[in-house]
Amino acid sequence: MKEELKDSCYKVQGNTKLKGAVRISGSKNATLPVLAATLLTDREVTLKNVPWLKDVRNMTDVLKELGARANYENGVMTVNTKDVANFETSFELMNKMRASIYVMGPMLARFGRVKVAMPGGCAIGSRPIDYHLNGLRQMGVQIQTKHGYVDARVEKLKGAKIYLDFPSVGATANIMMAAVLARGTTVIDNAAAEPHIVDLEWFLKSIGARIKGAGSRTITIDGVSKLHGAEHTMIPDQIEAGTFMVAAAITRGNVTLESARAADLKPIIVKLQEAGVNVRELKNAIRVSAKKNLKPAKITTMPHPGFPTDMQPQMMALLSTCSGVSVIKEAVWENRFMHVAEMIRMGANLDVQGHTCIITGVDQLTGSKVVAPDLRAGAALVLAGIAAENTTTVYDIYHIDRGYENFAAKLNALGADVTRIDSE
Ligand code: EPZ
Repeated sequence: MKEELKDSCYKVQGNTKLKGAVRISGSKNATLPVLAATLLTDREVTLKNVPWLKDVRNMTDVLKELGARANYENGVMTVNTKDVANFETSFELMNKMRASIYVMGPMLARFGRVKVAMPGGCAIGSRPIDYHLNGLRQMGVQIQTKHGYVDARVEKLKGAKIYLDFPSVGATANIMMAAVLARGTTVIDNAAAEPHIVDLEWFLKSIGARIKGAGSRTITIDGVSKLHGAEHTMIPDQIEAGTFMVAAAITRGNVTLESARAADLKPIIVKLQEAGVNVRELKNAIRVSAKKNLKPAKITTMPHPGFPTDMQPQMMALLSTCSGVSVIKEAVWENRFMHVAEMIRMGANLDVQGHTCIITGVDQLTGSKVVAPDLRAGAALVLAGIAAENTTTVYDIYHIDRGYENFAAKLNALGADVTRIDSE
């Protein structure tokens, strides 16, 4: 544990069953690339169902640093990038949020130049950007990396056939955005197929792009010369929905998720059902309930439509409370088991061997002081705390603020007792 715990924390009273209904917010991982894609057009764009999260505010700051105007009110964001005249994003903003790399594709497409600070690694892995850069190079971009910056220039992007070694979400999105204004056709093979990639395609089409195939492993984009404004509604957040499904299951409660899309949640639903959790699809909603005795499960994280890595820590918390031996293999990120040590503090029986974690279910987790190592792990620790005996304190909750809108308030409306204590 850190010597000084200055950041805000959540105090979580345990032994609570969650019951009721919760509305799922707009998707963070769909909103971030779509905000970057507003740089492709000089016309105003209106985005609805935008979650007001730290990462979204940071991406808005990146756009403003480039010269855009943006306004947010009650879930609606209007962005106008007509006056963008700066081509450089600062180290300070990039350091706050890696997704600011998303401005590369759109800036090159519209202005032919961009300079971004190299994103650093983070708790879950070293996070290279070689697929992004290789793809852009194939489209004719000259790239220099020096002094911690990526300086990229191109006279006019040209379409290319790009094969990704791994279906990277970020590289797929960046190349899609670059390709919509390129000369000729771009084909991305082994593309990511996540729901947020499909949402990006919907948005790009709404501003006039000619693009098809998102949701499959091949995306084809025919470049156009100009794009226009549009209004677009962000899809519901797949991972927030999955997190609340686990919240219902780990507390053996009964929760209805409003505005969740079952089609996006299939791999999560299948694994919850394997563990004995009841999941019922309703019209525009999903009801999740669980009884005392749940069973173990085997999970390997994979790109969509496989089981999402962003749900791995939450499932680990749940399986820690299911009798029998479960196995989780993390196959997307090289270092996404930082929460294991924290869950062991809470009485979980976990054994990590390389990229695999063996989970032996325990009768009861116990309240403890723990530190959130990253966003999803932080959420998992809060859920574990709600189910555990006594009180759990989760420190470093700034991670959770990056990706969950009103997390404590939503949990408390379902009967949890989660109090935020802000540092001075
Ligand atoms: C996105 O990150 C998400 N972030 C992550 O969610 C998510 O965990 C990840 O996709 C996988 O689903 C956003 O959407 C903002 P990748 P991204 O490129 O795009 C390797 C959360 O909790 N790789 O699909 O950065 C990489 O190291 C966050 O909301 C390269 O080697 O992920 C990793 O092992 C955390 N070279 C794998 O590919 C590259 O150029 C997948 O990364 C790019 C990636």
